[in-house]
Amino acid sequence: MAEATPQGPGIFEIIHTTRAMRRLKPDPVPEDLIRQVLLAGQAAASGGNTQRWRFLVLKDPEIKKKVQVYYKKAYDEVVGPRYTTSAPPPGSDPARYKRQQAAVEYLTDHYHEAPVWIVACLEDGANPARSAGSSIYPAVQNMLLAARALGLGSTLTTRHISYEKEVDAAMGIPPGFHSYAILPIGYPMGRFGPVGRGPLADVVYLDGWGKAYPGI
Ligand SMILES: Cc1cc2nc3c(=O)[nH]c(=O)nc-3n(C[C@H](O)[C@H](O)[C@H](O)COP(=O)(O)O)c2cc1C
Repeated sequence: MAEATPQGPGIFEIIHTTRAMRRLKPDPVPEDLIRQVLLAGQAAASGGNTQRWRFLVLKDPEIKKKVQVYYKKAYDEVVGPRYTTSAPPPGSDPARYKRQQAAVEYLTDHYHEAPVWIVACLEDGANPARSAGSSIYPAVQNMLLAARALGLGSTLTTRHISYEKEVDAAMGIPPGFHSYAILPIGYPMGRFGPVGRGPLADVVYLDGWGKAYPGI
């Protein structure tokens, strides 16, 4: 059973302020908080309630550093160049997008320094289907929300998957399982704030593709 909910912001405030927190302090995270985040992950739904997940907690600096090397490689090869040519997403603007890139670069360089990683893994066989992730990402989102509620910062990261064979081997993930996300967790340097998204009406339709949903 989960512990009593800590006193703090309500669920809607938590949802709307669970931003990617990429600048983290190296200070250790109390075991009790890690446990609460993991319990929140395990409370999530999975297809048929199969619970084929494993949550690998990594604190070992050497293992994290091995993975960071590939995480940075993927940034230098793909993600960094893409930022310089792409437009800001909905709800953002050039200045905000620049700050996002700076934070992404910061996390890339300091990935392994986050005191705790939770690596969300799934037993998905050798050739996972497109739907496989739907049985692990609800747990990932639960953990992000729980971390936020406990005052811990994190970011959903998947870039390591560009080098999945190498990083899964470095993390000792056995055949038949794959890592789907790495959550670097720590106390944030900055403050939580509202997420930036576009207008809701741009992405919601009523009774037909492209038809406006009045009143939202
Ligand atoms: C599937 C997925 C993969 C992501 N991978 C990364 C990643 O590898 N590195 C990173 O810094 N952020 C990653 N993010 C975080 C997004 O960039 C971030 O959520 C988005 O920019 C919105 O920012 P906000 O949540 O602060 O509003 C990922 C998010 C998702 C949903």
